[in-house]
This record gives sequence, C-alpha cells and structure tokens, in this order.
Amino acid sequence: MSTTSPEPESRTRPITGPVRTAVVGTGNIARFHTEALRGLPDRADVVAAVDIDPDTLATFRAHHAIPRGYTDLTTMLSEVRPDLVHVCTPPGAHRAQVEACLAAGASVLVEKPPALSLAEIERMAAAEGGAHGPWMATVFQHRFGSGARRVRALMDAGVLGRPLVATCHTTWFRPQEYFDVPWRGRWETEGGGPTMGHGIHQMDLLLSLLGEWTEVSAVARRQTRDVETEDLSIARVDFAGGAVASVVNSLLSPREESRIRIDFERATVELVHLYGYGDDDWTITPAPGREEEVLAAWEAGEHGVNSGHHAQIVQVLDALRKGTAPPVTSRDALDTMRLIAGVYASSFEGRPVTPADLGPGSPFHDRMSGGRSL
Ligand SMILES: NC(=O)c1ccc[n+]([C@@H]2O[C@H](COP(=O)([O-])OP(=O)(O)OC[C@H]3O[C@@H](n4cnc5c(N)ncnc54)[C@H](O)[C@@H]3O)[C@@H](O)[C@H]2O)c1
Repeated sequence: MSTTSPEPESRTRPITGPVRTAVVGTGNIARFHTEALRGLPDRADVVAAVDIDPDTLATFRAHHAIPRGYTDLTTMLSEVRPDLVHVCTPPGAHRAQVEACLAAGASVLVEKPPALSLAEIERMAAAEGGAHGPWMATVFQHRFGSGARRVRALMDAGVLGRPLVATCHTTWFRPQEYFDVPWRGRWETEGGGPTMGHGIHQMDLLLSLLGEWTEVSAVARRQTRDVETEDLSIARVDFAGGAVASVVNSLLSPREESRIRIDFERATVELVHLYGYGDDDWTITPAPGREEEVLAAWEAGEHGVNSGHHAQIVQVLDALRKGTAPPVTSRDALDTMRLIAGVYASSFEGRPVTPADLGPGSPFHDRMSGGRSL
C-alpha cells in the first residue's frame, strides 16, 4: 500500500498560447488593465468583459473590441472558461467575485484593496488552489518599477546598510464631489478612507522594502469631507529590522504628492511622484565617505521600467504561463492589509497595536472600523 498522498488534481488548464483573460467591472481602472493587455498580444487575449451596467459594458467592449460581453460573472465563467480574470469592481464586490473565479479554475488579478477586511482576504486565500493554482494576485503596481527593484537589489547586496528612519506620505486632494460615487467614503463598500483606498499603494511599497512591522500608533480623523470614514490618518510604524516610519494618508492636500524616503546607514533613498513613477523620480544621497560604492551600485542597477499596471501585468501573465507563484501573493496582500487594520485599530482604541492584536476575535479582524463610528 502506498504511503504517499496522490498529487492534488489541478483546477487549471496548462497554458500554451496567449493567456485568455476576462475583465470584470468596466469602469475607470479597467481601461488600464485592458490597454496593458492589448499591448501584450503575444502573451494575452482579452476574450470577455462583465459589468452589471449594460450601457457601460457595451461602450467599453466597443472601444476595446472585446468579443463577448456578460452582465453576470457566473455565466461568463462557465461559458468562456478564462485563464485569468481581472477583477476591477468596487471593493465590496471583490471577495465573492474572486471566490467564484477561483472555484471555476480561473486565476485572478484583483484591484486594491483586495478585500474589505482581514477576515475576507483570509477566506479568499483559503480558496486558492495551492501549488497548482488557481491563485489570486493583488494590484500593487508600485512594486514593479525598476526604481523599487533597484533599491531592493542594493539592500539585498548590503550596499545601503540598515534602514533607520522612513517617511511614507500620500498627500492627495479629493473634493467632495469625488465621494458622489455611491461606493466611496463608506466603511461597508470602500472599507475605509485614504488609508485603505489611496495610501495603500505607498504603504505596500514601504512594507515590500522594510519587511515585517511590529507596532503601530495612529490617529485617523475626519477633518472636512462629508464621508463616513477618515479623510486623514497619521501613524508611527516600528519595523522588526529596527527602522521607524512616519506614515501620512490624506485626501485634503491641495499640493498633491506621493513621497517615500528611507534613511539607511549608508545613503538616503527618496521617491517623489504622484500616481506612478519613472527612474527620474528616485534620488540617492550617499552618506559621507560612501559616495563611490553607493553611486556605482545605483548606476549599475536596473533601469527603464516605469511603475504601473503594465509592469505588474507582464509579470502576472508570465507567472501563469510558467506555473510560478504570482507577483504579490495573497500573503503579501494580507501583510499590507494588516498594517491598515493596525492603523484603524490603534486610532479607534487610542493605544499602540501589534500584529498579534489583529487576529480572529479582534473586531478589527472582521471590519476595518471594528464596527465603530468616527
Ligand atoms: N490600482 C490603482 O491605481 C487604482 C486606481 C483607481 C481605482 N482602483 C481600484 O479599482 C476598483 C474599481 O475602481 P474604479 O474607479 O474603476 O470604479 P468605477 O466605479 O469607475 O467602476 C466600477 C465598475 O464596476 C461595475 N460593477 C459594480 N458592481 C459590479 C458587479 N457586482 N459585477 C460587475 N460589475 C460591477 C460598475 O458598473 C462600474 O462600471 C476599486 O477597487 C478601486 O479601489 C485602483
């Protein structure tokens, strides 16, 4: 009698030609996904689109020449059987749609925030198919520019030394009319304010560089906008590697900017941009006496890739075709969501919070607001 378990049956089909993709939710951000896919004809085919609004769907399909359209995701999944579904709907729809795709054997690239709560993303991760897929990747496009990859490579090579202090500021401006879209500004449908919906990109990039966080102290406030969630948050985050960061997320800042600065032992690395960066948006300032080695490594590092959907989607398609883990796994996305939950928990409870405070049993595990009102 054999003592080894049989290999689990794969729910996905081997991919030999272009990846057959479908887009769900044909609003603003779906355009970035579709244009990136259209620019990669050897790697991907956009075979179907889904939206509950038939007019939006028809306009989108006509503009992007997408052959099949559906107002119901389940019907699309059973009739088209895509390899990959791009989930571009509002955050409140993500969990059920990602689970439906995974159950149908399709991998998923889901927009940020991937879920409304830690409990939701844990459920979604549990629905993945293990080593054989299908899997779920989250859109965190700022990890994929050459600037971020160059910093990571220099860190790994020991050129920069230990990270000591960082700032991670997402100071954007959204007027009141921005919140007229029914799902925005509400805990139940957007999951939070600028911490969850906007600064999430930069916090994800910071975490991808600095690693595990150990404690957060934060204030989340509603200063001026007529919304249910915060319109501003300010946090101090400690990292296991010893660095401490100041994190600001605002939708009230007329001079808009996205900024990450990390002071390492041997250099300051700085990124200043707005919604996406190129190589020129990064600067490096070596510590006295370290100029030669730091600048030589910086010049020799990877160049030429802007951050953005295109950069991540190339890697998502390649991972599917090669059968490797997706770029930004459910575990990576859970780590970023956990810091966001920590910011809210610390603010609502008025005390420092650690990752251990946010497990099942914490009200902030099930809902970012912990069920409280601001
Ligand atoms: N990565 C980024 O830089 C970035 C930028 C903007 C928005 N986003 C994210 O993208 C997602 C969508 O944002 P948006 O600005 O495109 O929203 P949007 O409101 O412009 O578009 C959403 C579309 O989804 C459709 N829809 C709603 N519920 C649906 C359902 N159950 N099934 C099918 N279709 C449904 C709507 O009819 C609409 O056409 C959000 O999660 C948002 O946070 C990401």
